[in-house]
Amino acid sequence: MTMETAETLETTQADRNRVLVEIEDLKKYFPIHKGLLHRTVGQVKAVDGVTLSIRKGETFGLVGESGCGKSTFGRVLLRLQSATSGKVLFKDRDIHALNAKEMQKLREEMQIIFQDPFGSLNPRFLVKDIIGEPLRIHRNMSGKKIDARVVELMELVGLDPSRRNRYPHEFSGGQRQRIGIARAIALNPQFIVADEAVSALDVSVQSQVINLLMKLQKEMGLTFLFIAHGLNVVRHISDRIGVMYLGKLVEVAETEAMFAAPLHPYTAALLSAIPKPTPKKKLERIVLQGDVPSPANPPAGCRFHTRCPFVQDKCREQEPQLEEKLPGRLAACHYPLLEKGNGPSTVQVSIHAK
Ligand SMILES: Nc1ncnc2c1ncn2[C@@H]1O[C@H](COP(=O)(O)OP(=O)(O)OP(=O)(O)O)[C@@H](O)[C@H]1O
Ligand SMILES: [Mg+2]
Repeated sequence: MTMETAETLETTQADRNRVLVEIEDLKKYFPIHKGLLHRTVGQVKAVDGVTLSIRKGETFGLVGESGCGKSTFGRVLLRLQSATSGKVLFKDRDIHALNAKEMQKLREEMQIIFQDPFGSLNPRFLVKDIIGEPLRIHRNMSGKKIDARVVELMELVGLDPSRRNRYPHEFSGGQRQRIGIARAIALNPQFIVADEAVSALDVSVQSQVINLLMKLQKEMGLTFLFIAHGLNVVRHISDRIGVMYLGKLVEVAETEAMFAAPLHPYTAALLSAIPKPTPKKKLERIVLQGDVPSPANPPAGCRFHTRCPFVQDKCREQEPQLEEKLPGRLAACHYPLLEKGNGPSTVQVSIHAK
């Protein structure tokens, strides 16, 4: 990409307020089969009613423990998997209602980067073919044209283009992730789901790849859904963060607001698990009791009640909805932490680890 196009594509503040992806009560259940007759005996509620707007040009970080439904959410968002119910509107178009041809066209605008830089690249393909494949399929490019674009893309992601005739195993983990990123941006997409894109990398390489993604976002006006286990990984890159628990969002906030004063006890627990506490506020470490319940049989009432240090009777009976507790701050909790002090600036989590 030339500097000129980079500049014209740079996001403006007005753009950032526009919604790119609108998700309405999205659900994805997987049937559980048993026995010789393969009877359906239950359902894994991997994503269980998520409503969210992702704004143009923002990075939305999605965090939560293993198995809470993050990857499923990302895949259903891109229609790599069907939805059980609910809607995903990408630029106002209901993507699960598009026909195959319309969907193939839209695929150019939505891409995914996977966690595993070793498994996600075909080991038998040269790097230039891996990066060039989407151009061949979607743009019908070949020969010198494709080669020139591959060189450009490799430079853009910080790879030496003279190595394009090599195989992925000749590259390090961080470099492979750059190959995956080059491939993902080959068609100039608008929206990228990065599913644990840096989780398999060393910490130092992690920040290099995160910096690369941030640079590309600025230059290309990209919108990211950035999925990771822990809050510390998404902090640097995310404008807003959503915390997921057993298939549902329990808190959504601007990054710094969330770090300054989490509203949901689960967010507070995730924050308190970060080794270096933020200098302003020291959260007591909250050690969650018990295991994550099964998404096939989530607890009644608030799903988090079985592990919540602040649980009360209402939490066992009524399911809290994700709603605005403070301007721009959503939480699904009957007793958000702000009510334990005189507002978010005085939040104190006074639970002691066992
Ligand atoms: N294809 C599938 N068939 C059946 N169950 C599935 C399928 N894919 C995911 N699940 C189940 O859905 C739930 C959510 O899984 P998912 O992979 O989305 O979680 P995750 O938050 O991405 O976890 P991790 O952090 O480990 O990647 C899990 O209980 C998982 O076992
Ligand atoms: Mg996952």
